[in-house]
Amino acid sequence: MAEDLLIARGSKEDAYQSLLPQIKGLVAGEKDLVANLANVAAALKEQFQWLWVGFYLVKDDELVLGPFQGPVACTRIRKGRGVCGRSWELAATLIVPAVEKFPGHIACSSLSKSEIVVPVIKTTAVVAVLDADSLDYNTFDAVDQKFLEEMVGFLQF
Ligand code: SME
Repeated sequence: MAEDLLIARGSKEDAYQSLLPQIKGLVAGEKDLVANLANVAAALKEQFQWLWVGFYLVKDDELVLGPFQGPVACTRIRKGRGVCGRSWELAATLIVPAVEKFPGHIACSSLSKSEIVVPVIKTTAVVAVLDADSLDYNTFDAVDQKFLEEMVGFLQF
């Protein structure tokens, strides 16, 4: 397996079209969950240069920080709290164009301006969430939602 990521230029859609098969290949060759989550976070950070991207894992009744790329972050989030806890509770992707307008948003970094949180659903339960934060407002849209939802489906928990 090649460990070099091919970075696509062009539209966001082009970037995801290039990235998804590479991520699929990366995780298909490895059974270890932490290794795979770490590589997915690294690949997304390298491609999109977001401020922060990573995973929170459902452990007992909380989300606990998992592999990520970016500044240090809050380690535990309760169900229903912040964008991550709300996405877990609703088992739905949340796109937040301006974080200060999301009631209860948890500001791990004051530099974060917009955010997307995608739940990882296995059978019927949310087992983790993928969280991405941007330095800019209005970064995330339905294109990110579509591809990130497909991407988290590659992960074996
Ligand atoms: N903003 C998130 C917390 C996690 S950090 O952004 C990494 C939230 O409101 O749930």
